[in-house]
Amino acid sequence: MTATTAASAAYIVAGLLFVLSLAGLSRHETAKTGNAYGMAGMAVALVATIGLAWRNGDPLSVGLIVVAMVLGAAIGLWRARIVEMTGMPELIALLHSFVGLAAVLVGWNGYLSVEGAPAGEAEQLGLPVGIHSAEVAIGVFIGAVTFTGSIVAFLKLSGRIRSNPLVLPGKNAFNLGALAAFAVLTVVFVVSPGLAVLSGLTVLALALGWHLVASIGGGDMPVVVSMLNSYSGWAAAASGFLLDNDLLIITGALVGSSGAYLSYIMCQAMNRSFVSVIAGGFGNEGSTASAAVEGEHTEITAEEVAQLLRDADSVVITPGYGMAVAHAQSAVADLTRTLTDKGVEVRFGIHPVAGRLPGHMNVLLAEAKVPYDVVLEMDEINDDFAKTSVVLVIGANDTVNPAAMEDPGSPIAGMPVLHVWDAEHVVVFKRSMSTGYAGVQNPLFFRDNTRMLFGDARERVEDILRAL
Ligand code: TAP
Repeated sequence: MTATTAASAAYIVAGLLFVLSLAGLSRHETAKTGNAYGMAGMAVALVATIGLAWRNGDPLSVGLIVVAMVLGAAIGLWRARIVEMTGMPELIALLHSFVGLAAVLVGWNGYLSVEGAPAGEAEQLGLPVGIHSAEVAIGVFIGAVTFTGSIVAFLKLSGRIRSNPLVLPGKNAFNLGALAAFAVLTVVFVVSPGLAVLSGLTVLALALGWHLVASIGGGDMPVVVSMLNSYSGWAAAASGFLLDNDLLIITGALVGSSGAYLSYIMCQAMNRSFVSVIAGGFGNEGSTASAAVEGEHTEITAEEVAQLLRDADSVVITPGYGMAVAHAQSAVADLTRTLTDKGVEVRFGIHPVAGRLPGHMNVLLAEAKVPYDVVLEMDEINDDFAKTSVVLVIGANDTVNPAAMEDPGSPIAGMPVLHVWDAEHVVVFKRSMSTGYAGVQNPLFFRDNTRMLFGDARERVEDILRAL
């Protein structure tokens, strides 16, 4: 068996392990096993790639791979140790930008070593230059869109730039024009590959990536993150074609298609058009101004909340991003146990995009040992709010905003939300009257049956526990 055949066999094994990994990650109970399959697949892939480079008698490549791996692993371990759960989405966005940048560099390297190489070199290698040029153009385009798009997503998610959508006049014309220009430039590049055409195509793709994500508003960012995940997969697959690496093609296609599917189901959960979101908010021009929200809010103390809870038959807790910031999940779990012991029915209502990453709240509650069976999805609990005595909105805002249903001009109009206001009493835990992630004021805070409990969510839940 030659080294190349052995590497191909190892790549197939790694590809299968990646498929098993994705299957495992689709359910709570099997997620850990899924992760283990993914790690095993990556280990097989790395050993096969390094082994192949070694057998091909290229010690310099092996040396470079080892240095890059040691550096990358050291930085990766350091970041993984210090990253807060709330900082995960921006870290993921940053990592996607690396995949995009790598695809751009692989594309440019492909151009410089084939089309840009001294005349006759490509022919000597026996390469069909036309196909290679198309691969370079497509790889650089997808990579550059992913690169700048992910950087904007990182800046928005980390609060370094505002999350409001950028609404340029003629933004759809720009996006469509950029796609048409990409098609033309690709044809020109295939017919006559030149530095100027590839440079123009790269700049165009960088601008398009920036504009696509800048045009999408805060509330739709979860879909953007999974969409960029998908783009990074396609960028990796394009690099796989250029590098003639089957495993990169398989892995890229798996990431690309699973990311696209996740984006699609998130769009369905949020009542958004998939095409509209991937086209940079296409058709959403009118939804940036919401009606002004005014009114008087009423405050409540932790002792008064304890009294409400003592008198309650049923309580629903709807956690959001603020619970994660406050690290309040253990205190919330203690509150759940205390109330359950007193005979109060306690359940959780989880919005599909509560927090900052898919499943964020479920992970925190599982970590705090809240039983799975009292943690319900939005659709399972929404009809029950009318029969609920007290709802505790712990650090959630956009996901409980009635404007999504009542104000067609709101940036979050049409997004399904938790109908907490139907309950007898609603207590909102937050530190101030400021808005949530989408930057939209919440009329829930001014309703007659709503009371505001200001302060850090964990401290306030602990105050309630003491009072109980
Ligand atoms: P948000 O709308 O982000 O609101 C969080 C609330 O928590 C804020 O109103 C904030 O108010 C409060 N808060 C922050 N720190 C707190 C603390 N220490 N103690 C008490 N309260 C605190 O939360 P949400 O309802 O979970 O909605 C999620 C939003 O993020 C949606 O717009 C969603 O589209 C977006 N998003 C989601 C994801 C995924 S995949 N889940 C990814 C990216 C973006 P104060 O500042 O006044 O305390």
